[in-house]
Amino acid sequence: MNILIVGSGGREHAIAAKLRRDDPRGSIWVAPGNPGTAGPGRNVQLSVSDLGGLADFASEKAIDLTVVGPEQPLADGIAEVFAARGLPLFGPSADAARLESSKSFAKQLMRDCGVPSAGFEIFTDYDRAAGYVSNLEPPIVVKASGLAAGKGAIVAESVDAALQALREMLVEDRFGESGREVVIEDFMPGEELSVFFLSDGENAVPLVSSRDHKRRFEGDAGPNTGGMGAYAPVVDGTPELIERVRREVALPVLQGMAERGLPYRGFLYAGLMLTPQGPKVVEFNCRLGDPEAQVVLPLTSADLAGPMAAVARGESLGDWSAGDSHGAALITVVVSGGYPGSYPKGHPIEIPEDLETEDVHVYHAGTAHQDGRLVTAGGRVLGITGLGEDLRSAAERSREAAARVRFAGAAWRNDIGHSEIGPTAG
Ligand code: GLY
Repeated sequence: MNILIVGSGGREHAIAAKLRRDDPRGSIWVAPGNPGTAGPGRNVQLSVSDLGGLADFASEKAIDLTVVGPEQPLADGIAEVFAARGLPLFGPSADAARLESSKSFAKQLMRDCGVPSAGFEIFTDYDRAAGYVSNLEPPIVVKASGLAAGKGAIVAESVDAALQALREMLVEDRFGESGREVVIEDFMPGEELSVFFLSDGENAVPLVSSRDHKRRFEGDAGPNTGGMGAYAPVVDGTPELIERVRREVALPVLQGMAERGLPYRGFLYAGLMLTPQGPKVVEFNCRLGDPEAQVVLPLTSADLAGPMAAVARGESLGDWSAGDSHGAALITVVVSGGYPGSYPKGHPIEIPEDLETEDVHVYHAGTAHQDGRLVTAGGRVLGITGLGEDLRSAAERSREAAARVRFAGAAWRNDIGHSEIGPTAG
């Protein structure tokens, strides 16, 4: 098969590695990729925003399957550009990707379809929004409706903090177009769970459940990041719970989308809160999570390339299932000093040659080649996934390997998975 993967992070490295396992003799290109994706694939210097250039490349190389890693090209309409040229692509249209790119669209759809989620109101006017939050009990959840690179959801611990978030979005325009509409939601306490489905527009087939850790510091403290680590499977993600999420969340949403003329084909990421009343949706994403993909895909033994290519051609998943997964996976993300604030780039990275084994995978994210050396080029630099019979052994492998990576200012959390294995395992 000829495969094109769009993106340049750890998630795209994990997708490339998984599709290489599924199709050992196929050709895989990654646009633009990173030094890690040049292992399972070949990098092609095309930007994720160059939709026409990507379509030209897919046409020239007779690509059978294009997989889009990040949300922005989907929100920008890459699926439409490819469809207009008859090029098979796995991912939703821009209108269907509004499940992620418009929180107000997603919330209204969920309300219409009876999908469990937090109560909410939508505002575009600061005074009206301020009047509404003034009567709420904190914590108050304020979300920019549009895409905001993971920075658009604020859990305000006071009315003043909620008003500040509203001012930044609706008055000061700090989030641009994304923050000109806001969703104010009821706070939902509980543990989060991520479930990714493959969807052909009608069926939803789940992969193994996962949980990410977004806060920078141990104990889930400090500022939000793009993700400091993740693990899979999650003990709460029992087969019964996953089936309930499929029935109560994924299928009604797919049906609602189809009824609106927006068939949803691609990865559907359900970000859930496990509440005493059952799982409720925190958010949808139109792609795999990062860094969750780096633990979910190594545990997925079923072939994904075939079913994804079938969906990309407009076919049904039929009775395809991802099967059972065995063992556990845990990723520790090694970040640049200062992240998620400002951080230096260009520090040489040393990865011991024996670090990568069958049970330790190294996923590149913010790395680059400079003067023949591997150097830091982003906040999240490398993700080290450990695999094991159980979560504890996966954690030990991940943490020991993360500690052996060297670059100036390297930092990571040693407590990923703490809610299941405690903070000090490894
Ligand atoms: N790990 C959260 C996300 O990918 O959105």
